[in-house]
Amino acid sequence: MLTSIIIALTFLSATTLLLSLLLVLAEKWILNYGPCDININTGQKVLTVNGGSSLLSALSENQIFIPSACGGRGSCAYCKVQVNKGGGPVSPIEAPYLSLEELENNTRLSCQIKVREDIDIHIPEELFKARRFKARVSTKTMLTYDIMELGLELIEPAEIDFTAGQYIQLESKEYKGRESVIRAYSLSSLPSDVNRAELIMRRVPEGICTTWAFDHLREEEEIFFSGPYGDFKLQDTDAPAIFIAGGSGMAPIWSILRHMKEQNIRKKAYYFFSGRIHDDLFFTDELFSLEKELYDFKYVPCLTREPQDSKWDGERERIPIVMPKYIPDASQYEAYLCGSSALIDACCSKLSQMGVQDDRMYFDKFE
Ligand SMILES: Cc1cc2nc3c(=O)[nH]c(=O)nc-3n(C[C@H](O)[C@H](O)[C@H](O)COP(=O)(O)OP(=O)(O)OC[C@H]3O[C@@H](n4cnc5c(N)ncnc54)[C@H](O)[C@@H]3O)c2cc1C
Ligand code: FES
Repeated sequence: MLTSIIIALTFLSATTLLLSLLLVLAEKWILNYGPCDININTGQKVLTVNGGSSLLSALSENQIFIPSACGGRGSCAYCKVQVNKGGGPVSPIEAPYLSLEELENNTRLSCQIKVREDIDIHIPEELFKARRFKARVSTKTMLTYDIMELGLELIEPAEIDFTAGQYIQLESKEYKGRESVIRAYSLSSLPSDVNRAELIMRRVPEGICTTWAFDHLREEEEIFFSGPYGDFKLQDTDAPAIFIAGGSGMAPIWSILRHMKEQNIRKKAYYFFSGRIHDDLFFTDELFSLEKELYDFKYVPCLTREPQDSKWDGERERIPIVMPKYIPDASQYEAYLCGSSALIDACCSKLSQMGVQDDRMYFDKFE
């Protein structure tokens, strides 16, 4: 009896495998979709591509880079675009990643859409600026015990045009049996430093990309990344700002603050930075110097696990507890947050209580 069940299951699995294989082959060689037009932003650009590949690949083959972190496997949900015509029905892989609102405005995962007919899509204007860059690692500098600054000299293209706050997608290389992956890192450099890109990276234990970058990537090595991406940037308003970050969440804020100094942007601002112990702090002297160099700026590092008997005379509570001491009424403020979901969620909820409007909180969650 058991033997018959095993034989039946083996037969079923083999048949399913064979059918899937036939489907893939049919898709590749028998079904010829011919040339298809991808109409982007109502005629702003029209690409004619050979049908059959995913929308994500068809776009990147034509130098239009949509963010993607899972290699098109439908698990990162970075590659969303609006597909107004020709995308076919929403697949079960996409559905869990799309909110009701997104479904209503035709948002889709571009990696899950096969180009089989003419397609009309809409993408944010700034994605036209994203490029794939070749760069040389010029410096690897440890900023703390688990945070590193990676300096990259651009080779081709030799210049990058980005807004302080944006991120790039770094391509790691294979090592010790671990695959190449793509991960997002905010640019910490200044937009005016057009020939360089700097990243601030925190080591994630067992993390594929960070282990590669910390332990295997060498100075002078050539690497690839794409970008810039993202809409985390300083708003063009007179409103005072609250910046909040933890760990490598420093990266985009470091870029924004130095950009404010360089451009003489006169905005009142507080910066609350979260660490556990004193050794988690970096750029401390530079940030306290910015208090004198920026229009009206205060840096407030908050250490939650610093030993009680240490010399630290700064804040020892979590940011949500510290903030109201400095800003009793935050109703006129806008807030910029960067780091872990836990930090961002806790701070956003406190900011709401302090009077910051939800649509004036801008954030990049790193995990
Ligand atoms: C828009 C954006 C900007 C980002 N900018 C930066 C940046 O400037 N600097 C930076 O260091 N990181 C940044 N990140 C996070 C970064 O993209 C990676 O997720 C992170 O470096 C881990 O990658 P990995 O391949 O080493 O780990 P993975 O192999 O992806 O993950 C290994 C394990 O660690 C967990 N994990 C993943 N990320 C984290 C994390 N950040 N902390 C704790 N556990 C984690 C995963 O759940 C998994 O279990 C950013 C993320 C986003 C979305
Ligand atoms: S590339 Fe990750 S979901 Fe599409």
